[in-house]
Amino acid sequence: MELDHRTTVLDALREHLGLTGPKKGCDHAQCGACTVLVDGRRTNSCLLLAVAYDGAEVTTVEGLAEGDALHPLQEAFLERDGFQCGYCTPGQLCSAVGMIAEAGEGAPSLVTPLAAATPGGPPPEPAPVALSPGEIRERMSGNLCRCGAYGNIVAAIEDVTG
Ligand code: FES
Ligand code: FES
Repeated sequence: MELDHRTTVLDALREHLGLTGPKKGCDHAQCGACTVLVDGRRTNSCLLLAVAYDGAEVTTVEGLAEGDALHPLQEAFLERDGFQCGYCTPGQLCSAVGMIAEAGEGAPSLVTPLAAATPGGPPPEPAPVALSPGEIRERMSGNLCRCGAYGNIVAAIEDVTG
């Protein structure tokens, strides 16, 4: 691709590659509708300049399913009615995939209880964090849903992580 150096990853995906799954909600890193996975990490693609990610592996919602087989989170969102208009859903799904991986690696959130450290000893090793509804809400708080489908989104994610 040849891109203007001001092109964001979001615009490169949508306008140049025709991948319209990632949505432009705010274009200011406030809503999460544009969330994609960059080298496996969830991120707001409206914030990233494409030239800085030459060679990176970017996964959009289009890449979550395996052919006709939906990703388990996609199945759960359908089962639980985790959306109304669906505008935020691609971002919610990509964010949930990244969030589950982060928790599995032991990355704490604001509501994760601190592991007790041995006085004078090394810091505790990171351990996988169990995803309670409170953990899911906190970790997904960067993805807004104007339709207010939050209760069902949490239930769908719990179905998969449980
Ligand atoms: Fe990127 Fe809202 S469009 S966070
Ligand atoms: Fe409409 Fe979330 S389903 S914004």
